[in-house]
Amino acid sequence: MPLMFVSGVFFIITMLDFLENEITKNFPQISEKILQGLQEPSIVSIKLNPFKIPEKHFFEKLEKVPWSKFGYYLQERPSFVNDPLWHCGAYYVQEASSMFLDFIIQEILKITPKNFNWKILDLCAAPGGKTWSLASNFPIDSFVLANEIDPLRINILKHNVSVLGFPNIYISNNQPNEFPKEPLFDFILVDAPCSGEGMFRKHSDSLKNNLNHEYIQICAKRQKNILHEIKDLITPGGYLVYSTCTFNLEENEKLINEFLSQNHEFETFELSFPKEWNIFIGRYQKSIFYRFFPGITRGEGFSITILRKKGSLSSEGFSLPLKKNKHSTNSWIKNHLKNPENYSFFFKNQSYFAIKKNHFAFWEFIQTELKMIKNGILIGNQKSNDFLPEQEWVWNIDANDEIYPKYPLDKNQAIKYLSKETFKIEFQEIGINIMMYQGIFLGLANNIGKRWNNLLPKIYKIRKSFNGWL
Ligand SMILES: C[S@@+](CC[C@H](N)C(=O)[O-])C[C@H]1O[C@@H](n2cnc3c(N)ncnc32)[C@H](O)[C@@H]1O
Repeated sequence: MPLMFVSGVFFIITMLDFLENEITKNFPQISEKILQGLQEPSIVSIKLNPFKIPEKHFFEKLEKVPWSKFGYYLQERPSFVNDPLWHCGAYYVQEASSMFLDFIIQEILKITPKNFNWKILDLCAAPGGKTWSLASNFPIDSFVLANEIDPLRINILKHNVSVLGFPNIYISNNQPNEFPKEPLFDFILVDAPCSGEGMFRKHSDSLKNNLNHEYIQICAKRQKNILHEIKDLITPGGYLVYSTCTFNLEENEKLINEFLSQNHEFETFELSFPKEWNIFIGRYQKSIFYRFFPGITRGEGFSITILRKKGSLSSEGFSLPLKKNKHSTNSWIKNHLKNPENYSFFFKNQSYFAIKKNHFAFWEFIQTELKMIKNGILIGNQKSNDFLPEQEWVWNIDANDEIYPKYPLDKNQAIKYLSKETFKIEFQEIGINIMMYQGIFLGLANNIGKRWNNLLPKIYKIRKSFNGWL
């Protein structure tokens, strides 16, 4: 074979061979189906935002992902970038297998008191798909910290979290070893950086790192270090959920078996679910993984396990003496939120932001320890005597829809608005107007009489080359 003339092809063939050998060795009884599945096109699915249901319920005709409360399969991949609903945060494009996290959370909630105040850490969060799962399945009062080490990927995470619009998600930018070694979180998700075999058909370049035994060993070592750094952050009775998008045992069953052998305070947490979901159960000594294989399960390759720290969850809240907030925010700014009495308001660097009162003590503590990127809701900015609300506020589900007049856009107008093209609008009122699409907040415009200014931040403008924040 003339491999030397087509070195790129040679590269792919050797990786495919490697993958084929690994799958045949580790899963002999199902390997044929998996290898067949890897040849098929990837499956497209979306997750609905339960707080932003559009006027026309397009999803009612779609097929549900059986293990997810809000997940739906699509027949084909549409142009999400040209759908204003996507820009409003009405849904997120998420791979179906990884939505199994929704089911895990629902099962855990069934055995936990309803009013429990969850503190949740999504350690490897960007681009934010599983942050959506955590925030939309845990009670809305839970404290969700989405952390990402990569400063570039933080921007994507920040956009995806902001457009979801949940007031209880905070973002930090820290290495796992920079977290204080204290039992702070009742639920930690480690969606680990991995060799990425499972995403082979979705992003065939996901194997560009030259998949081989050495690379898998490097990934496993990194995953081991991550688990070692964060295991003490989990409260007694709390959960550690670990996932990868790889097939091999080294980054999954074997790794967690070793972790359980060395950390006796953890035990596996087993789930039961319908057989028809075709989720493979991978067991290796002490560890149990839920495995999603193309060709067997309807989704991409994904592996997930749930561990529980022995003991019981404590309902005692996190308390610190509250510091007096020196700045008093006026009631008009406060009224930008639906229930201002539930929030503490701050003014820093000419910006107003709000933190849920029941999160305040915990936030006060972690923000002294971590590099925070997003704190509560950024409401807007003061520019000399003018106050301008922020795009992040418009997206927020707690934004008060009474404070500015609303202007409904049709699809054509919404796309023009998102492309920052000029077009004529008959506004009823001068000043800030909220641009709506199918009953959901899309963005802001400032009507100054003879013309209007599009206040959509340039970074969110639709560009021809834009591939979306996926
Ligand atoms: C599989 S991705 C996370 C996907 C995300 N949870 C989601 O559902 O959208 C893994 C993330 O881990 C981050 N990462 C890489 N090395 C890391 C390390 N040593 N510690 C923590 N996170 C790391 C990567 O930057 C990447 O964003």
